[in-house]
Amino acid sequence: MKTVITVQELRQARSSLPNPLGLVPTMGYLHAGHLSLVERARKECASVAVSIFVNPTQFGPNEDLAAYPRDVDRDLSLLEQAGTDLVWLPTPEIMYPPGFQTWVEVEHLTRPLEGAMRPGHFRGVATVVAKLFNAVQPQKAYFGQKDAQQAAVIRRMALDLNFPLQVVVCPIVREPDGLAMSSRNTYLDERQRQAAPVLHRALLAAQAAFQAGERQADKLRQVMLETLQSEPLARPQYVSCADPETLQEIEGQAPPGALLSMAVYIGKTRLIDNAFLGL
Ligand code: PAF
Repeated sequence: MKTVITVQELRQARSSLPNPLGLVPTMGYLHAGHLSLVERARKECASVAVSIFVNPTQFGPNEDLAAYPRDVDRDLSLLEQAGTDLVWLPTPEIMYPPGFQTWVEVEHLTRPLEGAMRPGHFRGVATVVAKLFNAVQPQKAYFGQKDAQQAAVIRRMALDLNFPLQVVVCPIVREPDGLAMSSRNTYLDERQRQAAPVLHRALLAAQAAFQAGERQADKLRQVMLETLQSEPLARPQYVSCADPETLQEIEGQAPPGALLSMAVYIGKTRLIDNAFLGL
């Protein structure tokens, strides 16, 4: 496994890797969810590259950029074991050199849900992912379904900007108690960790209501909210039942495949989760 830092080093190392190359963009502090993306890339591609970059432009002023967990040595050893060929560890100065002023904005898809709560977040994500795509030139790029809106935004961007690659979105990996894997789970203390699977329970409750015949999107949102409210440590920020393509809230009947999603504070930690209705 080769580790590189500058764009020049990356280009040189990349040029000797066979195609198709699969890219797994990450912010490090890897867990089983990230490793499932590497594993999938390993199966589908002749070579695998992983980027580790805690991207400052996707964090808001009051978000956890400085506190974001980091452990590069551990990440590198996990990636080596997982059969990664190339790891790119750019610095913020490499990604955003002095005078940087070019941004990628995906319009409508970034407005609801996470975009409404985290202004500027998806501009940072779309910009850095476009830069990763340009620098690494992968044939396939792997993202997790846990960030459902991010996956939709990146798919749209790849299409709109004619990136010659396939965006592959992989299933959420969960802890045995249902909590979706996330680097942010490490912020939770013991009591909060016990409370956190309530997000998954809320999704399951909406799924159960749908199976029992409930079709009204409003009712499904209410079922999720009530489940979240049964956990005293949970403070829901939003619950949603949205069109999976446009991400607009559904009014009236929710069809199978609608995207159920939520953001919930457990203490100071903001967790997200989602599921496709009826699937
Ligand atoms: O999902 C993430 O870890 C990040 O948003 C990504 C895609 C690596 C861009 O910084």
